[in-house]
Amino acid sequence: MKRTNQTFPAVAKTMAGLEEILADELNDLGVSNIEILNRAVSFDCTQKQLYAANYLSRTALRILKPIASFTIATEQDFYDELIKISWEKIFTFRNTIAVDATVLSSVFTHSQYVALRCKDAIVDRFRNKYHQRPSVDTQFPDVRINIHLSNNECQVSLDSSGASLHKRGYRKSVSEAPISEVLAAGMILLSGWDRKTDFMDFMCGSGTLTIEAAMIASNIPAAYYREYFGFMKWKDFNEELFEEIKNEAVENIVEPECNIYGSDISENAIQIASHNIRNAKLHKDIQLEVKDFAEQRPKNEKCFIVCNPPYGERIQPDDIIKLYKSIGDTLKQNFVGCEAWIISSAYQALKFVGLKPSSKINLFNGPLECRFVKFEMYEGSRKIREVEE
Ligand SMILES: C[S@@+](CC[C@H](N)C(=O)[O-])C[C@H]1O[C@@H](n2cnc3c(N)ncnc32)[C@H](O)[C@@H]1O
Repeated sequence: MKRTNQTFPAVAKTMAGLEEILADELNDLGVSNIEILNRAVSFDCTQKQLYAANYLSRTALRILKPIASFTIATEQDFYDELIKISWEKIFTFRNTIAVDATVLSSVFTHSQYVALRCKDAIVDRFRNKYHQRPSVDTQFPDVRINIHLSNNECQVSLDSSGASLHKRGYRKSVSEAPISEVLAAGMILLSGWDRKTDFMDFMCGSGTLTIEAAMIASNIPAAYYREYFGFMKWKDFNEELFEEIKNEAVENIVEPECNIYGSDISENAIQIASHNIRNAKLHKDIQLEVKDFAEQRPKNEKCFIVCNPPYGERIQPDDIIKLYKSIGDTLKQNFVGCEAWIISSAYQALKFVGLKPSSKINLFNGPLECRFVKFEMYEGSRKIREVEE
């Protein structure tokens, strides 16, 4: 298939607080004109870089390829502009489609209606040309189309990822309150972990943070376990080029230089984590155990903790404060000389850790606004920076 180095604009979507990390990841892929937006990064890329961004980026949720933008004054303008797009050059009537819409406009108020009108325009164009039409599959479409309507400005994009990139393919089951794979990877990258110090999550639940840490330490591509991307159903899909990207990335996989530990008080959570870790074929790199974090210690000289404790959404305030006090006591007593990063939306309870955070980052875990805080337990108990009461 023909190779082209032609560049085109793209937009990678992410979570609030991960934009700069995503921009760094895209920069490493050599894309140009990077611009940080709200929960997104725009850039220019080649077809190879678009595939690579989908395969390698740990913090992108989906990568959109804008194909048209126009101004509308009425609902009819929207339909008229959409039916003008040469959809048949992008996919065939045999493909299934779905339309996602984000709407902040007075012309339309309902995003579902916008999606429906877009689908009508596509179907009508195919029917007029071929007397055949693509059908709709909202769950697993071949081609996902994205409409962004802000006031009178409409942008139409193809979703090159298809399903959200947080769906890495290794997590078949989850324990209570699992963290998104994209957020977990983003937290680890934001923490500045050196990939050499032992990594520990002592409330690991289904194991997401330990798996993402092992993938980062081994250079395993973010989408290594994924089989499907939206761009694979586009008419211009260059399979050979995608294979080249995968082969280059796989050649960079290394043995991790550190140990990775996950533990949890729940036996069920550890069983689930073990299942997921096996799916990711990382069972040789991640050691799991059922243990109360208060009993946990570094296995070697030092370790680097990244942890997502309960936020108290389902437990009593007294208990949550006790839990966070206990996290603080454990860090001070058992983890001197180590660094810990904790994410939580329980701001009050976080104060009861009793250590002064040396860094604070605002993130969102789903709809919950969270702080991602760093505690450093310096050598020598006197130097532990406790919070002045
Ligand atoms: C928010 S969940 C962690 C979810 C995890 N990040 C994931 O992706 O699945 C919090 C975990 O803390 C565990 N936990 C609660 N109290 C604990 C304790 N005292 N010691 C160890 N783990 C504890 C729970 O069993 C639960 O799995």
